[in-house]
Amino acid sequence: MNTIPAFGLGTFRLKDQQVIDSVANGLELGYRHIDTAQIYGNEAEVGKAIAVGKVARQDLFVTTKIWTDNLSRDKLIPSLKESLSKLQMEQVDLTLIHWPAPNDSIAVATYMETLAEAKAQGLTKLIGVSNFTIAHLKQAIAAVGAAEIATLQIEIHPFLQNRKVVEFARSQGIHLTAYMPLAYGKVMTDPTIVEIAGAHQANPAQIALAWSLQQGFATIPSSTKRANLESNLAAKNIRLSDAEMRVIAALDRGERLANPGFAPQWD
Ligand SMILES: NC(=O)c1ccc[n+]([C@@H]2O[C@H](COP(=O)([O-])OP(=O)(O)OC[C@H]3O[C@@H](n4cnc5c(N)ncnc54)[C@H](OP(=O)(O)O)[C@@H]3O)[C@@H](O)[C@H]2O)c1
Repeated sequence: MNTIPAFGLGTFRLKDQQVIDSVANGLELGYRHIDTAQIYGNEAEVGKAIAVGKVARQDLFVTTKIWTDNLSRDKLIPSLKESLSKLQMEQVDLTLIHWPAPNDSIAVATYMETLAEAKAQGLTKLIGVSNFTIAHLKQAIAAVGAAEIATLQIEIHPFLQNRKVVEFARSQGIHLTAYMPLAYGKVMTDPTIVEIAGAHQANPAQIALAWSLQQGFATIPSSTKRANLESNLAAKNIRLSDAEMRVIAALDRGERLANPGFAPQWD
């Protein structure tokens, strides 16, 4: 697939049989975009679930991410080949730089150029970045051009709307993927979201996902439960009013959930 399906299945934290079941259920329910990463330690299980599933490879969009240990020129491509071997695939649809190099110990241009080389070799159809700041994006654009960057995957949910970097990415024509779109389940108890859900005979997760989709983001929630996977996917059918979108926009409180010690200086 050449375009990123708007609705994807996250697999962070899911291991062993749990990730196999989540991907298998997701494929059965109609998910066609699976998000994994080298650091999740589940590429082999994701690959297994896809291999035994009934969805043809060309109908699926698979993303993996290069871990920070593998950003040097000599490690990036071999590490992606190892990911492909675990995933039982000759090519992934999208490969992301998972995080900028901690302390920028490796130049952005180095790993972006190597990632572009991986694409030229046919190891990945598209390339992109994750957890980049505006400063990192500018360097990536200088290295490979904005048109080469298929998406910027960042944390976006009602409590962290990341507007500065979203606006910059949009100004460069770079697509966005919202990770942790449910704020790891926190949206479920927010009174404003609960109220909007009531008005749509929906659940709060569906409202958060509809809000994400309606802004043109790809969104990649995860769940270990088939019923949640199913209801999350049904968020595609919800249309929030402009007033509801504005009310959710006002919930932004800069609450960042993914903030490891090696994270960059956020915008
Ligand atoms: N690029 C990055 O650095 C990065 C960082 C973080 C995440 N990600 C990606 O983004 C994906 C999503 O993030 P995430 O998994 O951390 O968090 P999330 O999708 O925001 O939330 C997942 C949590 O919400 C619960 N949940 C899901 N659907 C629900 C529903 N309908 N009702 C009630 N609870 C529900 C899940 O519990 P149940 O299992 O009980 O349903 C789980 O605890 C990840 O899996 C990963 O692929 C990327």
